[in-house]
Amino acid sequence: MNLREEELVEFVNILKGISEYNFSGYSMKSLKRRVERILITYSLTPEQLIEKIRLNRQFLESVVMDITVNTTELFRDPKIWQYIRWRVIPKLQKNNKINIWVTGCSSGQEVYSLLIMMHAMELFDKVHLYATDLNSSMIDLAKNGVYKFRHNTDYLDNFEKVINQNPFNYEEKFEVDYNNYFEVDRVKDQIRMHDFLKRKPIIEKHDVVNGKPVSYTKFDIIFCRNVLIYFGNHLQTTVLNKLHGSLFKDGYLVLGMHESILGPMSSKFLKQNQVYKRIN
Ligand SMILES: C[S@@+](CC[C@H](N)C(=O)[O-])C[C@H]1O[C@@H](n2cnc3c(N)ncnc32)[C@H](O)[C@@H]1O
Repeated sequence: MNLREEELVEFVNILKGISEYNFSGYSMKSLKRRVERILITYSLTPEQLIEKIRLNRQFLESVVMDITVNTTELFRDPKIWQYIRWRVIPKLQKNNKINIWVTGCSSGQEVYSLLIMMHAMELFDKVHLYATDLNSSMIDLAKNGVYKFRHNTDYLDNFEKVINQNPFNYEEKFEVDYNNYFEVDRVKDQIRMHDFLKRKPIIEKHDVVNGKPVSYTKFDIIFCRNVLIYFGNHLQTTVLNKLHGSLFKDGYLVLGMHESILGPMSSKFLKQNQVYKRIN
């Protein structure tokens, strides 16, 4: 199925007109691939897809869920986590509280990585964690905190690297057991987060593009990893501006491995690894 550009634009405009979802600033290349896949999955022509989202709200919701890319993992890109653990968090550890927002949290692995790391650093009680995603199915999975094990065995390697090793001092080693945080059930092929971790964060649906700004607090750290990559340049700048406004001065924005701050927002941040410090 090859979707023409004008068909994609029409789909995006109609979706925007009949719902709160606005994908108009997203990167057209990735959006095109996702919509083409939806057409194949449901055996629809572009006209039929538009007709169906107009008539069936439930179908519209599931199409939106199919548009978002939700790939994630526990301690994804462990080098960044090591940097955050040993170079960023120590600068905040004297604060009475540490406010963190994970936007685009997908099914929650990033949320649990963070909580596990903060617990291992004996900072768990100071953390106020807010986690959001556009996709409500992912919010349910994040709250549930249960993941497949067989395809994710590297979760345990990542845990070792981030929790039990110090890459800045190889002589320092820890022996924290992952069972303190999650249970691996090989028979049911599951990794299940412990309840004390699941009770900690506020996890809710929020659209970082079109949603209301989070106004009740500012944050010491915002994670927005592998979200901007799906946006066009203009939308990236708009969202970076919003995130900048939600950070304390000297707060940190964490981006994905293939993301960076270019253009007008670059003078407001200082890059340190994949962590961007708000400097004005
Ligand atoms: C590839 S996942 C990244 C997950 C996680 N941050 C990571 O790096 O492992 C991208 C997530 O961004 C979410 N997303 C896309 N557009 C969004 C928006 N406008 N507001 C909030 N979340 C959004 C998607 O639903 C998806 O779960």
